Amino acid sequence: MTSHDDDARAQGAKVGLSVDTLIIHGGKPLHGRVDVRGAKNLVTKAMVAALLGDSLSVLRDVPNISDVAVVRGLLEAHGVHVTDSAEGELTLDPTNVTSAHFAEIDAHAGSSRIPILFCGPLLHQLGEAFIPDLGGCRIGDRPIDFHLDALRAFGAVVTKQPQGIHLTAPERLKGAHIELPFPSVGATEQVLLTAVRAEGVTELKNAAIEPEIMDLIAILQKMGAIIWIEPNRTIFIEGVESLHGFEHRSLFDRNEAASWACAALVTQGDIFVVGAKQQELLTFLNVFRKVGGEFEVHEDGIRFRHPGGQLNPVVVETDVHPGFMTDWQQPLVVALTQAEGTSIVHETVYENRFGFTESLNKMGAKIEIHQDGIASITRRVPRRKLEQAAVIEGPTPLHGTDIRVPDLRGGFSHLIAALAASGTSTISNVGIIARGYEHFIDKLRDLGADFELAD
Ligand code: EPZ
Repeated sequence: MTSHDDDARAQGAKVGLSVDTLIIHGGKPLHGRVDVRGAKNLVTKAMVAALLGDSLSVLRDVPNISDVAVVRGLLEAHGVHVTDSAEGELTLDPTNVTSAHFAEIDAHAGSSRIPILFCGPLLHQLGEAFIPDLGGCRIGDRPIDFHLDALRAFGAVVTKQPQGIHLTAPERLKGAHIELPFPSVGATEQVLLTAVRAEGVTELKNAAIEPEIMDLIAILQKMGAIIWIEPNRTIFIEGVESLHGFEHRSLFDRNEAASWACAALVTQGDIFVVGAKQQELLTFLNVFRKVGGEFEVHEDGIRFRHPGGQLNPVVVETDVHPGFMTDWQQPLVVALTQAEGTSIVHETVYENRFGFTESLNKMGAKIEIHQDGIASITRRVPRRKLEQAAVIEGPTPLHGTDIRVPDLRGGFSHLIAALAASGTSTISNVGIIARGYEHFIDKLRDLGADFELAD
């Protein structure tokens, strides 16, 4: 068993998932309602932001996923008292923040990338931080150079050590002028979490502006921060002496909502996603409609369904917000295997995010990966050199097979492919899916999926 597999079991165990494998009998449409709660990629950062406050914070709509459990463990290792104050609600008390021993940090960090965001808050609170080498899905080499360059610009001293990085702040961190080479979500969060208590003003150019970033800015503003969002992705942060706690209800998880929408398409089903909101899904909804899906926007969620008949091929490229999110391309690709014709998906954010298509081809899909993209496809903006393209011929009937889940979004896409395939599939390593999809097994059962659990 590889350490990766151990990690999957460990991730599942953090949220009470005791099985490793689903045996899925495909071919049944999914019908029903699923609740989507707070966004994994906001809630985990909001928990880190609580470290910056000198009083209690309350965070609501927190999903029961292992990435939240990882951050909770890291906070508690640093002396933050975290309590479940109500269903889906955490109360975080940062008033006794302390340094943590490396072994304890490493024990909790697991396969998450979030630990890197502890740097700024710990430097402000303690004057030093130790961050173990990071995990995260294997969808590229996931560097942190933008993060470290930004921290140095604030005046932090960064030392690479055998098992991670050690940072110190010889004096109070100072505001800086930072321009990101790429609108990185994580690096933007790194700058925000550091600049809010630095001395003076920070200018951040080419920032990420995803809805999760805007929600984090709202949280920091509630804490007492002064953050200006200018046109063309420039953000100014006026550092303040201190911040207090926040109360906040997270925005919904756009990635989970899009995943269930694609599940409805692929299984020719009809799924009402409670909590989904149109504004944060506009680009996804355009593509969903062009593929031939139907959606209805309601006050309490969005209904996604396959209207019958054929699905249409599309040409899509992933992009930073407000473009088509890179996290949406995996479930979409599965739906495009059922479209009548040739679809092309360019992945322009990560350099290796089509690995999951190998298993789809084993199931009967016809997907070809072009390592350098397809030059003849026109671009709205010049693309990065590291893009790839997937060319999907459809429709191809899918048949069951054995699959080991490779990463979070690819893994969920394998699930929905198996649900659509004829015959039986054995999907193992499903603990990874628990990182980002709350109670996904119960939700599949509620939607009428036909499967058994196996260890
Ligand atoms: C966040 O990852 C999300 N994860 C990802 O979701 C999401 O796909 C991604 O943003 C893009 O929206 C979390 O929020 C925990 P990036 P992040 O920094 O911050 C390169 C999921 O499934 N880069 O925007 O790590 C990087 O290699 C996950 O929920 C550098 O080169 O993404 C990538 O090519 C998957 N140097 C690009 O930027 C750096 O220092 C975008 O990465 C940082 C990033």
